[in-house]
Amino acid sequence: MDKVAMMIKARKLFKDISDLPTIPAIVSKVVSLLEDQDAAPDDIADLILSDQVLAARVIRVVNSPLYRTNNSIVSVKRALLFLGFKSVREMILTSYFVDGFKKKEQPFDMKMFWIHSFSVGAISRRISTMVGYPDSEKAYLVGILHDIGKVFLGHYCKEEYGLMLTNISNTSQTTHEAEYEFFGTTHCEVGLCLAQRWNFPSVYCDVISHHHSSEMATEDPLLTAIVSLADFYCLSHVTASSVAQASIPGPSEENAWEVLVKYSTAPLAACLEHFLSDLDEEYESISREVDILFNTMTMI
Ligand SMILES: [Fe+2]
Ligand SMILES: [Fe+2]
Repeated sequence: MDKVAMMIKARKLFKDISDLPTIPAIVSKVVSLLEDQDAAPDDIADLILSDQVLAARVIRVVNSPLYRTNNSIVSVKRALLFLGFKSVREMILTSYFVDGFKKKEQPFDMKMFWIHSFSVGAISRRISTMVGYPDSEKAYLVGILHDIGKVFLGHYCKEEYGLMLTNISNTSQTTHEAEYEFFGTTHCEVGLCLAQRWNFPSVYCDVISHHHSSEMATEDPLLTAIVSLADFYCLSHVTASSVAQASIPGPSEENAWEVLVKYSTAPLAACLEHFLSDLDEEYESISREVDILFNTMTMI
């Protein structure tokens, strides 16, 4: 696949669209303040409180079964201290991302899409801890966002995308391959355009662009490898109860495994298959967590 030609096609698709989902300015402000090491909780709480929807969201999530608090937390400042800045950053971005596409009609089941996205986020976070990657929240967030291009294609090219999905059902062709045949581009390039439009940090853009071609990652190859393997693992679980029966790893997954072996600061399993099957033990609890997260995020 010629990445340059695919990018040209993706940009062409973008050119004529005027109603692209946007992220509210308040969210960018809060997120950049949360990145600031010297920011005081009071400043961040004030900014969050200036947007009632955002404030309600923070309180609702901190009191959801996800965090199992003993007493209910009613102030934004306490929520910040309880959750930590990085978790609040994650939560805010995730919920607005879910919002941005909530009312966009799709030719596929949006619940399944979110379950996949949240699962890839949770598995990415788990893998990042297993290999000693220093920012597991970042792995979680970019894991959630990795397939955003599909939502764009599904909405703005609805009929063709629906036809494509019907054509590949009951075949072994992947969505990624079929998109290339149908559109001359894939959700990776389209996702990159969207991520750039939303001013996502360049490392997020790189992961979104290369999660199916991890060998091409330049910004943070380890992070791309983590998300690529988490995606492979979650896709395998749609058709198989254990990764041992799942589809064969392609060049992207093989490269991702090599990257993991090279950069991991902890000892790893002897081979990719064993490494991924170690995740099986946790898959059930991660699925439960994903269900709670999905319900919490889509209710607010
Ligand atoms: Fe993907
Ligand atoms: Fe995916």
